[in-house]
Amino acid sequence: MNNDTITATDNATGNQIDLPIRRGSLGPAVADIGHLYQALGYFTYDPGFVSTASCRSGITFIDGEQGVLLYRGYPIEQLAEKSNFLEVAYLLLYGELPDRQQFDAFTTTLRHHSMINKSLERFYDGFYHDAHPMAVMTGVVGSLSAFYHDSTDIHNPQHRELAAQRMIAKMPTIAAASYKHSIGESFVPPQNSLSYSGNFLNMMFSVPSEPYTVDPLAEKALDMLFILHADHEQNASTSTVRLAGSSGANPFACIASGIAALWGPAHGGANEAVLRMLEEIGDAGNIPKYLAKAKDKNDPFRLMGFGHRVYKNHDPRARIVRRMCHEVLATRAQQNDPLFELALRLEEIALSDDYFIDHKLYPNVDFYSGIIYKALGIPSQMFTVMFAIARTVGWVAQWMEMIAEPQQRIGRPRQLYDGPSRRDYHEMDERG
Ligand code: CMC
Repeated sequence: MNNDTITATDNATGNQIDLPIRRGSLGPAVADIGHLYQALGYFTYDPGFVSTASCRSGITFIDGEQGVLLYRGYPIEQLAEKSNFLEVAYLLLYGELPDRQQFDAFTTTLRHHSMINKSLERFYDGFYHDAHPMAVMTGVVGSLSAFYHDSTDIHNPQHRELAAQRMIAKMPTIAAASYKHSIGESFVPPQNSLSYSGNFLNMMFSVPSEPYTVDPLAEKALDMLFILHADHEQNASTSTVRLAGSSGANPFACIASGIAALWGPAHGGANEAVLRMLEEIGDAGNIPKYLAKAKDKNDPFRLMGFGHRVYKNHDPRARIVRRMCHEVLATRAQQNDPLFELALRLEEIALSDDYFIDHKLYPNVDFYSGIIYKALGIPSQMFTVMFAIARTVGWVAQWMEMIAEPQQRIGRPRQLYDGPSRRDYHEMDERG
């Protein structure tokens, strides 16, 4: 018996294949099914990719049972406490923490790419003022591909690096502009003297008529939220970016596809949905009614900000963000924000409820992030945009890793077809 294989047997024919086992540095080994179809004539079936590793990656590791999240081997708790977003961005892109010189060169490069083309600004005028900022982001980021198409050869590593730097540098500018458009204010250009998150706050909240000073706690909280959201292995939006990129598509268009996938309420749209849900619940007295709805299989309502495909014990990001939430609220007028009180009560009740315990449903990162954003004055429609700014680093790092792989091929899943069998076309008058 070979310990490095799993044998798959077709019980109908007795035919067998030894599937090689591949082991990574951490986490479960995988059975390589690349030759299963050739040998036995079967595809595998795994809707939602519950047991399927779609790629090999050395960027982010998650242990969902233990609640572990590592970026390039570094625990998220250490990075959130000691690092800053651009250092984490460097780590995710290049694989190692930078030394002082590398860090300075990296931040200088990003600063020099933070402005957006004047004609790109005019795209915003095509959107109605009440367009959702995520819709605007999808469109504007996608349109960057028109600006940098001929100059982007994805087979050239320098071009890939430049595309990555441009994307990370321009994202806050594009995001803040989508907010300014929605409230009918002039765009504020990036300020190179500010930090990445400080610059974003300035572009969001400053107006030409008044001085604006970045609040250090808001800057710290935002930077930490950006770190927590920077990458998360092969989630829906990252897999979307990889799949789009696998065809050799323009990287800016690939990132736009990631933004589209992120928008859904089961993914990045959850932070906005949490706030809507808390507002709808309104009062702690209504919690039992909403918990009952969440447990009712005939009711589509779910407790937003609860549950995760991978974390079945706790979401390590949620613990960090919960602490930050207390820190931010303690210094604000919203100290006694009824929504935050309601969130804490909901968390307490849900965590002692048998259904949530049995289903291993814990608060995820988005349960608290929306409350922090709200306390910072960021409107709820922008919450998922904040997620997109941070996750751009992960999308770009994963895209670069994929394109650089020597064996890279187009992603092309198969299916279990259950539609009609072959049938003949009949003229319209002859259809019964
Ligand atoms: N409220 C009530 N029941 C839930 C919830 C919830 N939030 N989440 C899962 N369940 C139940 C679900 O009904 C199912 O029950 P049963 O086995 O009895 O049929 C069971 O738990 C497993 O759920 P699933 O939908 O099969 O699990 P999944 O891994 O496909 O979904 C999820 C994961 C995150 C989409 C889901 O938990 C969910 O919809 N949560 C609310 C939305 C949310 O907060 N999303 C943010 C995720 S973290 C940020 C990010 O990654 O973008």
